[in-house]
Amino acid sequence: MALVRVREILKMADAANTSVIAFNSSDFNMIHSVFKIAEELKKPALVMLDPRHAALWGWGTPEIYAKMCIEEAAKVDVPVSFHLDHCMDFDFIMRAIKAGFPSVMYDGSMLSYEENVKNTAEVARVAHAMGVDVEAELGHVGFAANETDQDDLDLYTKVDVAARFCEESHCDSVAVAIGTAHGFYKKTPKLDLQRLQEINAAVDTPLVLHGGSGVPDDQLEKAFTMGINKFNVGTEYFYLYFQTVKEYCQNHEDIFDMQMLVQERLQDYLRQKLQLCTMTV
Ligand code: 13P
Repeated sequence: MALVRVREILKMADAANTSVIAFNSSDFNMIHSVFKIAEELKKPALVMLDPRHAALWGWGTPEIYAKMCIEEAAKVDVPVSFHLDHCMDFDFIMRAIKAGFPSVMYDGSMLSYEENVKNTAEVARVAHAMGVDVEAELGHVGFAANETDQDDLDLYTKVDVAARFCEESHCDSVAVAIGTAHGFYKKTPKLDLQRLQEINAAVDTPLVLHGGSGVPDDQLEKAFTMGINKFNVGTEYFYLYFQTVKEYCQNHEDIFDMQMLVQERLQDYLRQKLQLCTMTV
């Protein structure tokens, strides 16, 4: 099956009443491990490029990233795909689309409702003409380091505008703010599952949950049956990678085998995390 459009994978997840898991991944070890364990467990999975990592690597990144994902995806038989995460830069989105990204996120969540709709619709117009899917964000998923972000109801997605937003922006999926935040939590998040159910009842568009690191599994299991069809996780996957490198360097003089250990650890984590997606393919 190899590379599949993200909207098709979200459709499968919706039909199975679960969520595909999307991992922020910046290099071969991370991308290869996601697709490998997806294949092993017979589950769909996504990898996502964070534009901040692209900025660190320079302008060639979307092309290199796309090539790596396309080649890795061709090696597996389960539906996998890749996505450009949180981007506000129209030119960078266009560059990713040209490079072969099947899915992009335009994040206008810090803008007014009108500007968010207008810009998302403009991205969707071009992306759809190129056969590419668009994720939007309504409400704003903040940062866990700002302890108040996850509880700030002003940032939460408003049920009464969700349907109009999806219709007017032509997005293919929408990230909702229901109590999560990006990065490591200082206090355990408590998802507003009532709000999630109401949003899900109001819109047909697949819903996305950001800020996945550290959200308790029991809350995720519920959220996945209440309309979340794409679940983003990054911080804990990166942290595990960097901790493994640090530990290895402290304990070994010859660091030649380090990548083997990195992949082993990442794959053990993925083997567990991917169990949250209850569908098999
Ligand atoms: P975490 O880094 O908090 O897991 O969130 C990832 C995310 O939402 C990427 O869009």
